[in-house]
Amino acid sequence: MYNTEIPHNNLTIEAEEKSAALKVLNSGWLTSAEQVKEFENDLCNFFSLPDGHAMAVSSGSAALYLSLWALNAKNKKIGIPVYSCCSLRNATHLIGGTPVYIDSSVESPNIDINEVKNKNIDILIAPSLYGIPLDLTNKYKFKVIEDISQAIGSKVKGKKIGLRGDVGVCSFASTKLITSGGQGGVIISKNKSIIKMLKDYRDFDNRDDEKIRFNFLMTNMQAAIGRVQLKKLPLFLKKREDIFQQYYNSGLHLLNPLNDDFSPVRHRAILISPRPNEVIKSLKINKISSIIPLRKRELLDSKIKYRNAEKFTKKLVAIPMYPRLSKNHQLRVIKVLQNISK
Ligand SMILES: Cc1ncc(COP(=O)(O)O)c(C=O)c1O
Repeated sequence: MYNTEIPHNNLTIEAEEKSAALKVLNSGWLTSAEQVKEFENDLCNFFSLPDGHAMAVSSGSAALYLSLWALNAKNKKIGIPVYSCCSLRNATHLIGGTPVYIDSSVESPNIDINEVKNKNIDILIAPSLYGIPLDLTNKYKFKVIEDISQAIGSKVKGKKIGLRGDVGVCSFASTKLITSGGQGGVIISKNKSIIKMLKDYRDFDNRDDEKIRFNFLMTNMQAAIGRVQLKKLPLFLKKREDIFQQYYNSGLHLLNPLNDDFSPVRHRAILISPRPNEVIKSLKINKISSIIPLRKRELLDSKIKYRNAEKFTKKLVAIPMYPRLSKNHQLRVIKVLQNISK
C-alpha cells in the first residue's frame, strides 16, 4: 500500500514568493501601492500591451463584475455558458443583467461560438475552460468579455488569448495557473479608456467629488506574490505540459482540442471516462485524489436541459495536475488508471 497521498491540485509557493511578501510587510506599505502598479505593468508586458492597459483587482469575480459595469450591462442580456463557474452568474445578477445560458459545444465544455452568433444577447462572457482556448475569431454584434481565468498563456495561431473581446479578465485565485497570494484578478483591454474609467471606479479613497466608487483594490502583498508567479508562469506551463504529455503518451483518454491552431495550457488534465465515480474510487484506494470538475447540480441553470453540458458533467474526471507533481507520482496515477481499463 502507498503511504503518500497525491493531491489533485497543489500550490507552488517557494522562497521567492515568501521573500517578496516579507519585503512588503517590512516596507510598511501594505495597501494598494507601487507593487500593484508594477504588477499591472508586468501584465501589460506579458500581453504585449503598452503600460496602462491592465488593472489589478481583488478577485476574478471582481474583474467580471467591473467588466460588466464598464460595458453598461445593467438591464442587458448577458450570454454565459451553463457549464462554467458560478462567479459568471453571480456577476451577471449583481450588475442587474439577465443571464442567457448557453450549452457546451459537442466536443468540449466550451461553448460553440457559431451557436451564440444567432442568440439575442448584448454581452457575452466567454471563458476558455480547463486551458482549452475558445474559438473566438469573428466580430460579433454583441460585446465580449474574454475570461482567461483557466487559460492564461494559451494561444491561438501563436498569439496569446485574452484580448479578443472588448475586455479580458483573469483570476489569480489559488486553484488557477498562477496566484497572487490566494485571491486576485486582472482586467485587460486594448482600449485604454476602459481601463482608465475602471481605475477611477476602483480607486475610491481621497477623492474630491461625490461619485459612487467601490473598493476592489488588490493589496501590495498580493501583487508582490503575483509578480513572482507571473515570472514563473512559462516554467509552470512547461511542467504542466510535460505531465500532460506523460499521461497522454501512456494512452490515457484526455480532453484535448482538435484544432491544430490552438495551443492549450494544462490547467487541468481531464480524463474522459464513461464511469467517473468508479475511476475516482479506484484512485482514492491508491491515495490519489481526483474530482468531477463540474457536477450536474453545478450547471448554472436547471430550468431546461442542456444536452452537451449535461453529458460533460457525467463523463469527466480531473486527475492530478500541478507543476510540482513528481514523475513517480505521475507514474502511479497512470498505473492505477491503466489497471482500471483492463
Ligand atoms: C472561468 C472563471 N472565471 C472567473 C472565476 C472567478 O474567479 P475568482 O475565484 O478569483 O473570483 C473563476 C474561478 O473560480 C473561473 O473559473
